[in-house]
Amino acid sequence: MDITWLGHSAVKIQGSKTLYIDPFLTGNPAASATPDEISEADVVIVTHHHGDHLGDAFAICKKTGATLVGIHEVAVDAESEGITAEGMNIGGTVEVEGVKVHMVIAHHSAEKGNAAGVVVEMDGKTIYHAGDTGLSYDLKLIGEYFNPDLSFIPIGDRYTMGVPSATKAVEFIQTKKVIPVHYDTFPIVSADPEEFKKRVGDLAEVVILKPGESHSL
Ligand code: NI
Ligand code: MN
Repeated sequence: MDITWLGHSAVKIQGSKTLYIDPFLTGNPAASATPDEISEADVVIVTHHHGDHLGDAFAICKKTGATLVGIHEVAVDAESEGITAEGMNIGGTVEVEGVKVHMVIAHHSAEKGNAAGVVVEMDGKTIYHAGDTGLSYDLKLIGEYFNPDLSFIPIGDRYTMGVPSATKAVEFIQTKKVIPVHYDTFPIVSADPEEFKKRVGDLAEVVILKPGESHSL
């Protein structure tokens, strides 16, 4: 399975199916791809209704025929534009083309519905994308219950966890690998991923990517 960070919280997961999570590309100064370059997608997942996460999700679904998975209110919007969507809410699981998506709690806001995180199961791997969230004990439950192989954790501070709190989150999540995201997109969310790696130490393998780079899981 190939994991590509597209910048900010946008990731591509290429396994037996092609997934995108939070594909904010247009207007993202750190984006490594444009929506025009995306010709194939099976599932597009949106963690919450903020511009830097919803991004180009609808446009990619329209172009590729991918199914959108998101919280109820986002899914209703997508369906109103003719997109095939699976609406859900925190605590629920949907299965699309053999890919399981669990929606989990995130402590954050959203323009519509709630903010959430997602745990994706595909090809025997469990991947947690935290979306935007603050540090809380809920992360401990996510770790205990899902035991992720890989987690995407925001470290940019101000709107999400910063490096010190994200380090504590890694301890809670008990993830084998972690890829820091949601930093250096804009000066207001600048953070040092090397400092994060240093603090995490032996808790997990920290994989630092540049936008456009991939990691094999
Ligand atoms: Ni947000
Ligand atoms: Mn955000």
